[in-house]
Formats: sequence, structure tokens, C-alpha cells
Amino acid sequence: MSASSSLSSKVALVVGGSRGIGAAAARKLASMGAQVAVTYKTRRDAADEVVSDITEAGGKAAAFEADIVQAPAIDSLLQAVSARFGGIDILVNSAGIAPYRPLGSMDAAFVREIMDANVVGTVLLTQAAVPLMTSPGGRIVHFSSRLATSPIPTSSVYAASKAAVSALVHAFSKELGPKGITINAVAPGVIETDMTAAIIQERGRAIRSTTPLGRIGQPDDIAGIVAFLASPDSDWITGRTILADGGLS
Ligand SMILES: NC(=O)c1ccc[n+]([C@@H]2O[C@H](COP(=O)([O-])OP(=O)(O)OC[C@H]3O[C@@H](n4cnc5c(N)ncnc54)[C@H](OP(=O)(O)O)[C@@H]3O)[C@@H](O)[C@H]2O)c1
Repeated sequence: MSASSSLSSKVALVVGGSRGIGAAAARKLASMGAQVAVTYKTRRDAADEVVSDITEAGGKAAAFEADIVQAPAIDSLLQAVSARFGGIDILVNSAGIAPYRPLGSMDAAFVREIMDANVVGTVLLTQAAVPLMTSPGGRIVHFSSRLATSPIPTSSVYAASKAAVSALVHAFSKELGPKGITINAVAPGVIETDMTAAIIQERGRAIRSTTPLGRIGQPDDIAGIVAFLASPDSDWITGRTILADGGLS
């Protein structure tokens, strides 16, 4: 089977596929033959652009709105995607937020907002997707971060939320293994997206000079790893977090 067709007949739901790493993953999965559901929270324009790129290249894709902090929105999303494409083989969850604050200026609302989007969303999405997924054969990919194991000042709550994602995929793999569904996380270092624009503006030179591969990571650097974890080639990997940071850690 050629690499370009290795996901043909598969349906991939890419949550947070409207921008950044999720958009690159959606395009990559489509280029390998998957039909792709691309979700957004507010940026419908960005999701529509990803869908247009995929359909213009001969693939199949559609955009769906969902805020993964809201359980009813997740249920509606899963039902809509399943009705449109006839089931789900691959779930990629790239939705997330990354506000930083020093210890002295955080409050409960700040902590809850991050934990809701990055942790509660991960749990609810996984829980809602599993009953609709191909079993055996389903694939789930979430996003941790390099910061989960190498936090920097002011990143504490975000780092903790991503450590939770790594723990969740490890623990969920014990429950999903018997169903033949794999679940893993990717832990990127700094990748150039809207999420990191301010950090790169401030510290880009230092990041480049301390990264063995000598540049800032791009969404396509991560999309290939997602595609591998979504493909049959990763059959024997589950519960793991794959660190991808250009050698920085
Ligand atoms: N970029 C990095 O350096 C880096 C490093 C390590 C880990 N990560 C992780 O990788 C993932 C993707 O990051 P990114 O840089 O691609 O982010 P990004 O460019 O900021 O895109 C975030 C995506 O998440 C969606 N989203 C945010 N909150 C949501 C919610 N409550 N419900 C549904 N969708 C929501 C956004 O939708 P809208 O377009 O509608 O706003 C957008 O599609 C995140 O989990 C992030 O924590 C990123």
C-alpha cells in the first residue's frame, strides 16, 4: 500500500483542526486518503479554508462547530460527524489553550479555564468518541506538551494540564486496549502557530540557538507524527507520549 493511500476509507475527526497543528494534521490525513471532519470553536473562516484546501486537492472534508468544554456540544458533534461520514476511525484532539501567569497573579477561574479546555475536554471527547469508533482498529491522538516534563516559569497550570493529558492517555490505554483502540499523545516543543506567536517574538532567537536542529518547529513537523499514530503502522504503540521538540529537552 502506498503512503498516500494508507488511510483511504478511514474517517478522521480532527478537533481543533481549524488552525495550527490541527490544521496541518487535517491536511496530512486527507493527503493520505482519509475523509476529514475539521472542527472549530469560533474560527469558522479558518476551518472553511482547511476544508477548501482539502477538497480542492481532491479529498473529502467538512467543517463542524464545537466547544469541547461543553458535553452537549461534544455529543452533537460526534453524532453529526458519524451521520455525515458513517462512523469514526481516527480522533485527533488538537484543541487547547495556553495562557501563562505567574503564581502570584493566578486565581481559580484562570486554573479552571485551562483545565476545562485541556483536561475536561480531553476526557469528554474520548468518552463520547469511543462508542462510535472502529473497534478493533480505532486510533486516538491527543496533545501533551514538552512543558509537561520541562516546565518554564509562568507555564505551571498549562504544564500541569498537559501532564494530565499524558497520564490520561496512559491510563485510558488500559481500558481501550481490549477494544483494539490505541490512544497516544504527542508532546511538541515550541511550534510556530497563533498559540506561540508572542513567545516566538520574545524568545525566538534563544529557542533557535538552544534547539539542536537549529530552527523553530512547524505544524508539519508534528502532522507526520500524528499521521503515523493514526495509521496501521503504529499498531503496537498505545498509552505513550511522543516527545517532538527538535532535540531541545
Ligand atoms: N504550538 C505549540 O508550540 C504547542 C506546543 C506543545 C503543545 N501544543 C498543543 O498542541 C495543540 C494545538 O496547538 P496549536 O498551537 O495548534 O494551537 P492554536 O493554533 O492556538 O489552535 C487551537 C485550536 O484549538 C481550538 N480550540 C481552542 N479551544 C477550544 C475549545 N474550547 N473547544 C474546541 N476547540 C477549541 C481552536 O479553534 P478556533 O480556531 O475556532 O479558535 C483552534 O482550532 C494544543 O493542545 C496545544 O496545547 C502546542
